[in-house]
Amino acid sequence: MKVAVFSTHPFDRRFFDAANEAAGGVHELTYLETRLDGRSAPLAAGHEAICAFVNDRLDRATLEILAGQGVRLVALRSAGFNHVDLAAAADLDISVGRVPAYSPDAIAEHTVAMILTLNRKIHKAYARVREGNFALDGLLGFDLRGRTVGIVGTGKIGLNVARIMRGFDCRVIAYDPFPDEAGLAAVGGRYVGWPELLEQSDIISLHCPLTPDTRHLVDAKAIARMKPEVMLINTSRGAVVDTRALIEGLKSGRIGYVGLDVYEEEEGLFFADLSDQPIQDDVFARLLTFPNVLITGHQAFFTREALAAIAETTIANISAFEATGAPLHPVSTQRAD
Ligand code: NAI
Repeated sequence: MKVAVFSTHPFDRRFFDAANEAAGGVHELTYLETRLDGRSAPLAAGHEAICAFVNDRLDRATLEILAGQGVRLVALRSAGFNHVDLAAAADLDISVGRVPAYSPDAIAEHTVAMILTLNRKIHKAYARVREGNFALDGLLGFDLRGRTVGIVGTGKIGLNVARIMRGFDCRVIAYDPFPDEAGLAAVGGRYVGWPELLEQSDIISLHCPLTPDTRHLVDAKAIARMKPEVMLINTSRGAVVDTRALIEGLKSGRIGYVGLDVYEEEEGLFFADLSDQPIQDDVFARLLTFPNVLITGHQAFFTREALAAIAETTIANISAFEATGAPLHPVSTQRAD
């Protein structure tokens, strides 16, 4: 199939070329660096499928242009699909496929890296030592053993984080409206209600998808219930947290540490080198001023194993669609009416 691959970087090409070759080189992949939105969608002309990543915009207007170009498949190279208007896709007869699981370890391990870095202030220590500053003031951390970790969303990633944190002898509690009792019990955690999770956790880690229910799940009200100096980690989706409320929480000292791999308005920022430009997003710029905030640019998934798995599953989705008319891992779409 002819596939227009949007938002590509050199690393995407490497892994996609390898996966396509392993599948017999059957697909013709056109790599486009540009992000997909209404303006760039016409570049898909002549392709039956497009491949998109997390910050591509697949709203109704974009999908209409794609459908007009003859695109019949959107192959997402992500697990999350919150950026796709599924009702519009159904109306336009466009199938949507995704990569439901590639390496939950990659995201879980990055989450734990953020917890350890924030606690032991490794990012500051690294810079200090390189400047010949061996003073310890300001680097004080705490023992993880015995601390309570609250996991929000006990799917593949959340359960992995729970398992790793149990390895540090932490107490693990979790909240999920669709609990996996056996899965959580197997890693030594237990379910509590949302208020209890907020009130008891020393560290809160978000691993739920972005849905209308989870948008701004962590808002001013939730933050007010948290323990003073709580650590909040978000490697799920930016909009699960109300960033303005987060900033107020940091200013008041209620929140002691923040680790973000995702940000509400990351679309125009992440995955690009903007180091020679002023940051236009004042909210993001404010976040960067806090000494106890650690931000990575949506890199939790970024391991060799994850990239290889993403490419393989995406190629498999495209091959299955070509053979049967449905991707291997479809996202169920619903008509708007
Ligand atoms: P999953 O589908 O296995 O698990 C998600 C869990 O969240 C489910 O158990 C679900 O019941 C739960 N959930 C749904 N609504 C909830 C709510 N209101 N409160 C608490 N829990 C709720 O998904 P997986 O693979 O564990 O991924 C989780 C999220 O991580 C993805 O949706 C995606 O947004 C994000 N992600 C981030 C990456 C990164 O690079 N930073 C990479 C991959 C995924």
